[in-house]
This record gives sequence, C-alpha cells and structure tokens, in this order.
Amino acid sequence: MPERRPLSPQTLIFEKGYDPQRSEGAAVPPVFRTSTFIFKRAADGKRAFEIAYGLKARGAGESPALIYTRVNNPNSEIVEDRAVVWDGAEAAALFSSGMGAISSACLAFIRPGDVLFFSDPIYGGTEYLFRRLLPEYGVKTVPFPSGADEAALERLVAVHGAPRILFIESPANPTMELCDMAAARAVADRHATPGRPTLVLVDNTFLGPIFSRPLAHGADLVLYSATKFFGGHSDLVAGLAMGRAELVGACKVMRTILGSNSDPDTAWLIHRSLGTLQLRMEKQQESARTLVAMLRGHPRVARVYYPGLPEMGEAQVALWRRQCTGSGSLVSFDLHGGEAEAFRVLDAVRHMRLAVSLGGIETLVEHPWSMTHADMTPQEKRHAGFTDAMIRVSVGLEDPADLCDDLGRALDLV
Ligand SMILES: Cc1ncc(COP(=O)(O)O)c(C=O)c1O
Repeated sequence: MPERRPLSPQTLIFEKGYDPQRSEGAAVPPVFRTSTFIFKRAADGKRAFEIAYGLKARGAGESPALIYTRVNNPNSEIVEDRAVVWDGAEAAALFSSGMGAISSACLAFIRPGDVLFFSDPIYGGTEYLFRRLLPEYGVKTVPFPSGADEAALERLVAVHGAPRILFIESPANPTMELCDMAAARAVADRHATPGRPTLVLVDNTFLGPIFSRPLAHGADLVLYSATKFFGGHSDLVAGLAMGRAELVGACKVMRTILGSNSDPDTAWLIHRSLGTLQLRMEKQQESARTLVAMLRGHPRVARVYYPGLPEMGEAQVALWRRQCTGSGSLVSFDLHGGEAEAFRVLDAVRHMRLAVSLGGIETLVEHPWSMTHADMTPQEKRHAGFTDAMIRVSVGLEDPADLCDDLGRALDLV
C-alpha cells in the first residue's frame, strides 16, 4: 500500500474536535449554552478539580473534565481543537476578544521587573497595554521599529536589558511593514536565563494562518483577534492564542482567573466560520491584488503599502519571501494631500463601508490617523511611518471590479 498523504488543513478542519455520537448524532455541534456541568459521582468532581488546579498529574489519554463555562466549554474546545490546523500548533485557547488573548498571554509570562520589547507601530489596544498599563505594574516596555534587524534589537538589549517577552505584530498596522521573527528568536535565545525562557509572541491577525505561520519562524505563541478573519463576518468579538501545550495551559489559567474565556454562542459562530476561512482569505487576497494594481496606477495615489510590493523596500521584500506565503487583503495607501483629501474619498465611496475593524466579508475603509491610531501623538504617528494622507482598506468578498470602480471614482473626485 502506498503511504497515505497527510490530510490537508482544509479537510482536517471538518474532522477534529467533535464526535456526533456524543450529541445525539447531530451532524453539526449544538450550542452548549450552560454555565455548569454535572458530575456523575463526587469522585469525578474531585478528580476534575485536581486536574484543573494542577494538584495531580493527568493520566495518559485523560482529558480535563468539563466543570464550568468560564474554565472550559465544548463549543470553545471544538474551536480550540480545530483552529490549530494551519499553524500546526499543539494547543489553542479561545478568548473573549483579541485583547483578552493578548493581555492574558502577556500577564501569564511577564512579572514586575521584567522587560518587554514590542514592535512599533502596533494595534492601539496593545499599545495602551504596553505603554500605559504594564509600566504601572513594574514592567519596563520598550518599542522597536517593525523593520528592525537583529543588530538593532541587540543595541536595545544593551541599553534596556534583556527582554522577557518580544512582542511582534506583523505586518504592522497600518504601514504593512513586516517584522523579522527569526531575528527576534535569535535575540530571545541569546538572552534566555535558565528556567525562564525569553518568549517571542506574534500577533498574526493581519495575514492569518493562511499567509503566515509564525510558529514555523521561531514564535512561541501566535495570537489572533478572531474578531477578524477567524470570525470573518463582522458579527462577533473573540481571540485566540496557540502554541506549545504547556504555554497555552498557562494562558488558560490566566483566562480562568481574569474571566476572559469566550461564550458558547460566539464559539459556535467561530466554529461555523472555520470551514470557509481559507476560501475567504484566498479570495479576499485575490481581490486585494486587483485593487492594489488599480491604486498603483492611479494619479491621485502617492504610495501603496502592501506586503511584498517593491515600494516596501528590498529588505522587506526579502523578508516577505522568507516569512510569508501571501500578502493578505489589507491595503493602505497615501493620497497626494492630507486629511481633507482623505475624508473626501472616504465620504465618496458608495459600496465600501466607512468603519474600523477588518477581515470581514464586506469591504471596510478607514482613516488610521484620526480613527484607529487617534491615541498616538502626531510625532509618534509620523515616526511610525504614516500621515493623515493615508487610507486603510480591508478588502471583502464583493466583486473586485465593483470595488475598483467605487474607489477609483471616489479618488477621481479629489
Ligand atoms: C492586529 C490586531 N490585534 C489585536 C486586535 C484586538 O482585537 P479585539 O478587538 O478582538 O480585541 C486588533 C483589533 O482591531 C487588531 O487589529
């Protein structure tokens, strides 16, 4: 018999984590809308808590029992078992939001006196956590430019001390600049102390597991705002953390205590979206490429930002070839002009919707300077590489020709 080819993620996504025989044969998992779970015998309850609190080791093949929905729930577990198929992670933890995943993961591993490096620019909520909250708990947080190489990171270590966490968002929002994960890994390994490794955490929300697999490039944990492509329909808020079981286990302890678990209905919706994640992301990327080609040729557009484009610079293109398998469906561009011109375009589009967020099936446009990144000072924004002339587009599933007509016509009005 010829050796069997391993199943691809697009097949595994329908197979893992759910046994219909345990749910009356239901072809699709029901929503387990319950806050608590009944034990058959008192000894089962005792055992469940021994395992949940780490008082006793788990037996071979013994899975944690269901106790209480803040701890775990079948709908969350189905998503956790399935969502790992593209990243190739050992385990996943589902959260009530992307920020729930990011904050729980950081709090699981950082302690007062530690140093945390983070790529800059970064999502506003993460920025607030790092620049404002963590320093109040005695953590020193140090931004580094997204495009920094290994030598630049080492110079920061010399000034600020060795980091406990290197936190990367790649591509950066809204500049689409990639961050070198292998460089972060090398620095983390060089400065790890015995018993306390330095961790590389990567927010992979923009490219998703279809176009970027950080665990294969040295990350310890990959984090997602599942509100975006995993959910994919702009109708829920959720987050994911994935990686080695031991690290994900620590995130789950933090999740239980902070109360940042998802709820059964949201988990069920994410489970439903998983089967189309790859299809959606690939199709959205195809349409984004059509839009990028139109924008690059438009006389009102000064510059387009999209991973892998030559105008991102030679080092970025080389990194994109090494680190990514696609460019995704987020595109930023600068107009000739500033806020007034950008607002005229945003007010003139008819089919693209003026809203923040991204990764849904309908196209969204926004103005990073005054909306998603309003919390940064003008100097911080310029330093991070964008101005008030920039517009960001999250390309959805509408016909790309209609999208090009819509945006092209709005640009012609400027
Ligand atoms: C890159 C990135 N990371 C994290 C988040 C936070 O996710 P959530 O809104 O699900 O908490 C966002 C939200 O926009 C994001 O764009």
